[in-house]
Amino acid sequence: MHTHNKSPDRQVRPTDIVKAAAATAMALALLSSPAASAELGDARRGRAYAEAICAQCHAVAPAEKASPRLEATPFSVLSGLPGLNERALGVFLQTPHAEMPNLVVTGQDRDDLIAYITGLRRKQ
Ligand code: HEC
Repeated sequence: MHTHNKSPDRQVRPTDIVKAAAATAMALALLSSPAASAELGDARRGRAYAEAICAQCHAVAPAEKASPRLEATPFSVLSGLPGLNERALGVFLQTPHAEMPNLVVTGQDRDDLIAYITGLRRKQ
């Protein structure tokens, strides 16, 4: 553990500060790396999947506001819906619905899609 020792024989030297800053920077880098975040999926793969599968009906790109199928919610809007969190999306993607009877997304594809769609929120 890092403790502040105020005894006179142990003064803070500039090199200590540099070391502490470097350690903090490393900790931050670790925190923001995909492996350390709570997300399971890869947003880039999710986008590729969405463009291949969902884009025939949904607007998939971050700035796209009008879907090819007008009733299909654009993903940029989807990501902003209150309550549309990872869990809700996950449940939805495992449940076929009227317009997408054969469309059940599972496993890594599902995690990737969720990472992409929820990630759109942060870009707005
Ligand atoms: C064949 C067209 C079509 C495809 C392909 C399609 N969707 Fe949809 N989707 C729709 C339509 C139409 C709606 C709105 C009507 C409904 O909910 O049944 C919808 C609704 C949704 C909703 C719920 C939106 C809301 O406002 O509640 C989500 C989430 C969704 N789609 C995700 C996806 C994802 C993810 C993919 C790709 C894996 C996908 N859809 C592919 C047509 C499609």
